[in-house]
Amino acid sequence: MYFRVPLILFLLASAAPSDANLFSRGSEHIIRSISTAHRHAVKRSSNLARDLRRALSPILVSQDGSSQSVYCVTGDGLIGSGGGSSSGSSGGSGSGGSASSKASGTSTASAASSSSSASSSPWKLQQNYEGDSFFNDWTFFTASDPTDGNVQYVDSSTASSGNLTGINSAGNAYMRVDTTQTVSGNRQSVRITTNYTFTQGLVVLDAVHAPTGCATWPAFWTDGPNWPNGGEIDIMEGVNSLTINQASIHTADGCTLPSSDSSTLGISGTVVGGTNCAAEESGDAGCGVQSSETNSFGSGFNAIGGGVYAMQWTDDGIKVWFFPRSSIPSDISNSAPQPSGWGTPLSFWPSTDCNMTTYFYDHQAIFDTTLCGQWAGDAWDSTSGTGQSQSCATMTGVSTCADYVANNGDGFTEAYWEVKSVKIYQESS
Ligand SMILES: *[C@@H]1O[C@H](CO)[C@@H](O)[C@H](O)[C@H]1NC(C)=O
Ligand SMILES: *[C@@H]1O[C@H](CO)[C@@H](O)[C@H](O)[C@H]1NC(C)=O
Ligand SMILES: *[C@@H]1O[C@H](CO)[C@@H](O)[C@H](O)[C@H]1NC(C)=O
Repeated sequence: MYFRVPLILFLLASAAPSDANLFSRGSEHIIRSISTAHRHAVKRSSNLARDLRRALSPILVSQDGSSQSVYCVTGDGLIGSGGGSSSGSSGGSGSGGSASSKASGTSTASAASSSSSASSSPWKLQQNYEGDSFFNDWTFFTASDPTDGNVQYVDSSTASSGNLTGINSAGNAYMRVDTTQTVSGNRQSVRITTNYTFTQGLVVLDAVHAPTGCATWPAFWTDGPNWPNGGEIDIMEGVNSLTINQASIHTADGCTLPSSDSSTLGISGTVVGGTNCAAEESGDAGCGVQSSETNSFGSGFNAIGGGVYAMQWTDDGIKVWFFPRSSIPSDISNSAPQPSGWGTPLSFWPSTDCNMTTYFYDHQAIFDTTLCGQWAGDAWDSTSGTGQSQSCATMTGVSTCADYVANNGDGFTEAYWEVKSVKIYQESS
């Protein structure tokens, strides 16, 4: 794929805080989108080193001209054969998952607003990643980080023996970044992709804690093949000390939002960037929607014990909801989801001008926590697009993100996912 990132906007994205302050809030959205854009250029590109170099070299070496060309090679080669049951799908009924799901149901029963019963849910549980078997049906990504982060993604046994992954006493799965104080080179982390592949569906993440802190760039997202042709749906993503979430879609040419107005779309979030969701036509700004809730990401999310993100993808479009821990609908806790009763979503990308089977297919869900790289690293010296009042360089007193990562393991004690469950449903027919 081939698209352009205007050089001036790329430079703005790297602007020092004093420079960034010269620009309006609107410009900051653009800065953020463009910053997001060039990281996505490489996030979705192949994990092969040659492809990374191809993707990055125009950005890294070009010093003139009015625009930058980014050549993006697609696919990460992890697409499975799809469907089918697995040990993961039945794992939730095991000891760990059972305890976990009971706890969740009990704590949220008072938030019930739906009068539905399990039998009336239009959604049927296909995959349940929960409890002791949480990690069974994921593939650990071990290539160098496609986003140029200062991480070394480790395999399943290295992660487990090094306590980067595990199941805690609450029955929740955790994925940590190595906290060894000093490392030479990159710091160990985890990136996992579901073996399960799905087209349309309902993905429900119940997380207690999300990675946060300077240098971190965590995400929970779904992705199709031959990026951007199979489409990408970013459900939960941010960097550094952000406490607001940004959900985004990225597509092939021809998919647009009918409006950027929140009330027209019927969403609680704010459209940032444009209404053209096509990666190649928008410099991969895509169609991002930012939450206004400061408990939707990072330390704000963790302070309330997290909550649930639900992403519904049907013929009508894609919606994302966020429910803080204290207001998770009981039908979600009961695994009998009734999205029609969930109220205004954080974001909605309707099918009006974007066919949901043409632009999105064969997705897999992914967790990762990278460090530095094309978003957190580029934002190290800046407050732009990070929602921070001070840059991470100022906050940490360390001049580069890479130096911080190498020498400050104690800065990553909060850089972990703690997940009660990921459930993937299909509409019953
Ligand atoms: C998931 O895929 C990986 C290989 O990518 C494999 O090692 C693992 O066994 C698979 N899990 C299941 C439950 O089939
Ligand atoms: C492994 O990591 C978990 C989660 O961070 C932590 O609670 C536990 O103490 C660690 N175990 C060991 C043996 O270090
Ligand atoms: C989307 O595209 C598919 C395949 O071309 C077509 O069958 C379907 O009717 C389209 N859906 C809508 C809502 O236009």
